[in-house]
Amino acid sequence: MATKHTRTLVTAALPYANGKIHLGHLAGAYLPADIYVRYLRSMKRDVVFICGSDEHGVPITITAEQEKITPQAVVDRYHAMNRSAFEKFGMSFDNYSRTSLPLHHETAREFFLRLLGNGVLTEKTESQFYDEQAGMFLPDRYVEGTCPVCKNPDARGDQCEKCGTFLNPTELIDPKSRISGKKPSVRETKHWYFPLGRYQARLEEYIRDASGRDGWKQNVLQYCQGWFREGLQDRAVTRDLDWGVRIPLPGFEKKVLYVWFDAVLGYISGTKEWAAATGDPQKWKRYWTDPSTKYVAFIGKDNVVCHCIVFPARLVAW
Ligand code: 2FM
Ligand code: ZN
Repeated sequence: MATKHTRTLVTAALPYANGKIHLGHLAGAYLPADIYVRYLRSMKRDVVFICGSDEHGVPITITAEQEKITPQAVVDRYHAMNRSAFEKFGMSFDNYSRTSLPLHHETAREFFLRLLGNGVLTEKTESQFYDEQAGMFLPDRYVEGTCPVCKNPDARGDQCEKCGTFLNPTELIDPKSRISGKKPSVRETKHWYFPLGRYQARLEEYIRDASGRDGWKQNVLQYCQGWFREGLQDRAVTRDLDWGVRIPLPGFEKKVLYVWFDAVLGYISGTKEWAAATGDPQKWKRYWTDPSTKYVAFIGKDNVVCHCIVFPARLVAW
């Protein structure tokens, strides 16, 4: 029997606060979400609509280095700009939050510590590129090189935009640091990992169920099936960076949570911020923990793995 939903939580992917949103963004995740929410409101349904700025990770720190300003100055500027652009366009978010808020940092840290306390996360030592001149590790987009799959010479350390393959920086051919332009060296570093493979059977069942539900596009379902065929791997949830959500563990003073780990939790902290503003701070729980709430996420095409595979697994582990 289909679940009867009494309320709906709608989220739209949090745009990075490192550039201006444009019509492509609006047409992709935001306008369809807004139309859906306005329809629910017109039917007098209980709905809350959350979005905000994604303010951590390498996209922000690279912009800060290019402009020779702090990451905080980058996100302050683009958060204000994008918030105002959304408003002028008529987007009817109940809250447009941001992930540099202390409330968000607390929420993300608490989520991480709960997974750690449940024994879900494992610590591993891995080899990572290091820029000797800059004296720093080079996670994700800090490295560029040739894609091992399609030979695109401009692949990023986390993904080749030409063929779409997700990469580890160390898989790139002829890697170069984006800071010094030099070939990086390799050093060992410790990180926490989420064991995604452990949830594969549960996720396959979830995606099979989703095939019968409204709103899931065929290409999204097929994309997930492709990931299942490859076999889900452990995913590092921390990075060697000094901009992001810090975790209170010895040996991790110079590390932060991986931006994709904290960004999706921005939907939860954004709901908490909204609830507090309405004078009922506990109200967010109804939208996140009550099974009679329907959750609908509007996302961009690059956000599929995170929202359809990784985030659901993390919520199961929560
Ligand atoms: O693709 C992007 O712009 C990401 N900032 C989307 C993040 S969605 C969610 F994780 F918050
Ligand atoms: Zn490629």
